[in-house]
Amino acid sequence: MPDADAARPPADPEDHPPAGTADPRTDGPGDAYAGALDHYTSPARRDWVKRVWEEPQLIGLLDRAVRAAARGTGGASRGPEPLRVLDVGCGTGVVLELLRRTPVLRDHGAPLLDYLGVDLDAALLAVAEQRLGDERSRFLRGDIRAGIPGAPQELYVSSGVPFSHLTRGELREVVTEALAAGRGTGAGTVLVIDVLGRYSLEWTSRWEQTRWEYAMSFFSTDREAGATPMSTYGGSELAELIEAAARDAGRTLSRLELVDRSIVVGRHTATGAYTPGLRDLRQLVNDLADPHTLVDPSALLLSDLDLPPAPEPVERFLATFIARWEELLAAAGRAAAALPAERVAAEAQPRLAEDLLAMEHEAQAGLGVGHSLTALVVAAPDG
Ligand SMILES: C[S@@+](CC[C@H](N)C(=O)[O-])C[C@H]1O[C@@H](n2cnc3c(N)ncnc32)[C@H](O)[C@@H]1O
Repeated sequence: MPDADAARPPADPEDHPPAGTADPRTDGPGDAYAGALDHYTSPARRDWVKRVWEEPQLIGLLDRAVRAAARGTGGASRGPEPLRVLDVGCGTGVVLELLRRTPVLRDHGAPLLDYLGVDLDAALLAVAEQRLGDERSRFLRGDIRAGIPGAPQELYVSSGVPFSHLTRGELREVVTEALAAGRGTGAGTVLVIDVLGRYSLEWTSRWEQTRWEYAMSFFSTDREAGATPMSTYGGSELAELIEAAARDAGRTLSRLELVDRSIVVGRHTATGAYTPGLRDLRQLVNDLADPHTLVDPSALLLSDLDLPPAPEPVERFLATFIARWEELLAAAGRAAAALPAERVAAEAQPRLAEDLLAMEHEAQAGLGVGHSLTALVVAAPDG
C-alpha cells in the first residue's frame, strides 16, 4: 500500500508543544491502538448495540451525505463520473462497508464511488485492503495533518472519532484545506466529521477539559491500551470551528447538521474509567435485547449519576432526556409486572431496548452529549 509522507509546515502556533516534548504532527497515537487489530477483527465488536443502535444511525447519516454530494455535483445528470470520497482514519474500512449499505447505493447503485481510505496504521490498512480493496477502493498510509491526499474530493467521511486525535487548530486546518480544495471546481463539498462528544455520560470527570489523555481500554483484546491525547467537542464549539474554517476557505455552507451518537450506550460505559459509579449501560442494553437474559431494570437508571456543571442547553437536555429514559423504564416495569419471567426476557425487555433506542435517536440534539458528535457539512458549489 502506498505511503503519503508529504510534510507541511505547522500553521497554528498554539498547536506547538513546548520544546523537548512530543510533536503532535509527527507522532501518531503511540500504543493507543495496540489492541486495535484484535478489536476490529473480533466478532464481539458487532454487539446488538453496534448492529441495531449505532450502525443504522450512521448509515442514515452517510446516506444523507452521499445524496447531498451527488446533488452538489449534478446528481443523476452527472453521467458515469464517480463521486470522489476520502475516508479519514479509515482503519479496517468500516465506513466503506457502511457506505455500501446506504439506501442510495444499495438500492440504486448510483453514484459510483471512487473511494480512498487514509490512515496512520499499516496493520489496519492491510486488513482493509485485503477485505475491500479493488480498482475503485484504495487505501493509503498517511497522516491527514500532513495534507489531504488526492484533494479535491466531493465527499469526506469519518467514523470512530479519528478527528479527535487532532488538536482544534489541526482540525480547523484540515477542514479549511478540504473546503478550499473544492473552491471553483463547480462541485459541492460534503464532510462528515466525527469527534468525541465533550459532555458524554462516559466521562463526567473530564467535562471541564477539551483535550485529555484517553485510553481505548474497551477494545476486545488482551493487549494493554496506552493513552493518547484526544479532543472533545460541544455542539456549538464544533459548529464554530467549522464555520471559521469555511470563512477561511472562502466557502458558503448550505447545511451544518450535528448529531449526538450513543448518548447512553458508548463503549466507555463498559470501563467506567472516567465517570464515578457508571454502570455498564451498553452491556445492560445488549442484555435487554437478548431474549434469554433477564435484566434488573434499576441498573439502567441514570438519575443517580452525579453530573458536573455544563452549559445550560446541555444541562437542560440531559435533565429532560434522563426523565424520558426513566419514564420508559417505569412503563416497562409496570407492563412486566403482569408477565411471567420468560416473557419479560423474551418479549418485554427486547421491546424496551427498541423503545430506548428510538427515544435516543429522536431526542438527540447535536450538543456533544454522546460518545460521538458527528457533523454533516455541505458547502454549495461556488463556480
Ligand atoms: C477508532 S479508529 C476508527 C477506524 C474506522 N474509521 C472505524 O470507524 O472503525 C480511528 C482511526 O484514526 C486513525 N488516525 C488517527 N490519527 C490520524 C491521522 N492524523 N491521520 C490519519 N489517520 C489517523 C487511527 O490510526 C485509527 O485507525
